[in-house]
Amino acid sequence: MEQAALFTIFGGTGDLAQRKLYPSLFRLYRKGNLAKHFAVIGTARRPWSDEHYREVICETIKDLEPNESEKKEFASHFYYLSHDVNDSDHYDQLKALSDQLDEKYELQGNRLYYLAMAPQFFGTIVNHLKSQDIITTTGYNRLVIEKPFGFDYDSADKLNNQIRNVFPEQDIFRIDHYLGKEMIQNISVIRFANNIFESLWNNRYIENVQITFSEALGVEDRGGYYENSGALKDMVQNHILQVVALLAMEVPTSFSNQSIREEKVKVLQAIRRYESEEVLQNFVRGQYDTGTLDGKDFIAYRDEPKVAKDSLMETFVAGKFLIDNFRWSGVPFYVRTGKRMTEKGTRINIVFKQVPINVFNFEQEAAGKDLPQNILTIYIQPTEGFSLTLNGKKIGQGFKTEPVKLDFRQSAEVTENSPEAYEKLLLDALNGDSTNFSHWDEVANSWEIIDRIRHTWDQTTPGFPNYAAGTMGPQGAFDLLAKNGHEWAWQPDQWYRERGKLK
Ligand code: BG6
Repeated sequence: MEQAALFTIFGGTGDLAQRKLYPSLFRLYRKGNLAKHFAVIGTARRPWSDEHYREVICETIKDLEPNESEKKEFASHFYYLSHDVNDSDHYDQLKALSDQLDEKYELQGNRLYYLAMAPQFFGTIVNHLKSQDIITTTGYNRLVIEKPFGFDYDSADKLNNQIRNVFPEQDIFRIDHYLGKEMIQNISVIRFANNIFESLWNNRYIENVQITFSEALGVEDRGGYYENSGALKDMVQNHILQVVALLAMEVPTSFSNQSIREEKVKVLQAIRRYESEEVLQNFVRGQYDTGTLDGKDFIAYRDEPKVAKDSLMETFVAGKFLIDNFRWSGVPFYVRTGKRMTEKGTRINIVFKQVPINVFNFEQEAAGKDLPQNILTIYIQPTEGFSLTLNGKKIGQGFKTEPVKLDFRQSAEVTENSPEAYEKLLLDALNGDSTNFSHWDEVANSWEIIDRIRHTWDQTTPGFPNYAAGTMGPQGAFDLLAKNGHEWAWQPDQWYRERGKLK
């Protein structure tokens, strides 16, 4: 169904707008979610004309192969305004253009403001939206904001207060693009639509949970940003803690955004707040050195552009969260993420407990051995699907066991045609559905957890660099599990090591 709205994109010339937002808007247009009654104002400092802006828009949707008339018609809804975020006069121009487009396209006062720029500007933009009367009284006014949402609890709280002075919580859509990913959304379905899992989803049957967000890429040209963020704030504070919450939350009473949010917040509140000593025991940081994988040489983090030669910023984090509630008491949630690891892969392994006794260990090979544990793996990306490893009987005489895998992967065709995360999130925002966005209570709890880790780390100097590019992180990340008698279920580096492609 068509949605009437005016999008105002602050940071309209930026990378995010060009790579993600414009193609997503085009996809929505193609599907009919946007049709005649929509317009987009792109604003940024650069002095572009509408014509030039529209050419850029056409360029950004090239890969989607629009035909000429489709492209022209879509691009004709885009307008550009050169804008200094601190200058009130510019907001007056924005208001005039917004009102004019509202009338021309019959937008009923529905406005969506997308802040795709550095958070230090959020406060002044929202204040001006109010003081210069851009916010309408007839339709809805929604604010969509990109991360980072602050750089610690205090700054996030301050930012939140500034925004909440103008927009009520239900109109604020804080983007965590992982929440738009198909398989992240599938976590709830796997859990709550399958009795065989939900009935085992607790500390009686699950031994540990492992969440890996590994990236093969280095920091690329984002050294400037990353030097102030590091892996902890870039990935753990937002994406990883959101996934922990989705995996650990109680069954919501209904699948409404309020019920889900309440359950997620409860989990985040139950995550143990570590004292310094516990942070040191339960969290490991790393920074990549030079390395060679499969014949390719990689430079060290400290040699990347815009990175200090003696940088102490982590490019890798592994850690153990404990959730102090009835369901999860005693079950470690291991997480790890990093740049320049062996492979790009986001996956979750749910490792079930051993059967109480291996009754098959009368076979010679199995004597004294435990059976491999059942593992449910959720593949988030690059492949999408899930698998379950079980034990079966080896064909032939006797009762030798062997692991078998029930494996489901979405076909490449299905994943290719499934909506991109940003497309889904934009449509959710248009529909006023905030289920897949981060509520302030979630952000606040996440910062409380992360601040303790950061604060402890800031007291000591790490021995960086400590892992070679192309590996799965420093030794400490393996020791972290080994000291509880566990190991990472996913170790893609082994494949390369066995073939002499990684040292
Ligand atoms: C972003 C981080 O939030 O997520 C990046 O800032 C990271 O550092 C990216 O590379 C990973 O997202 P995706 O969708 O490519 O897995």
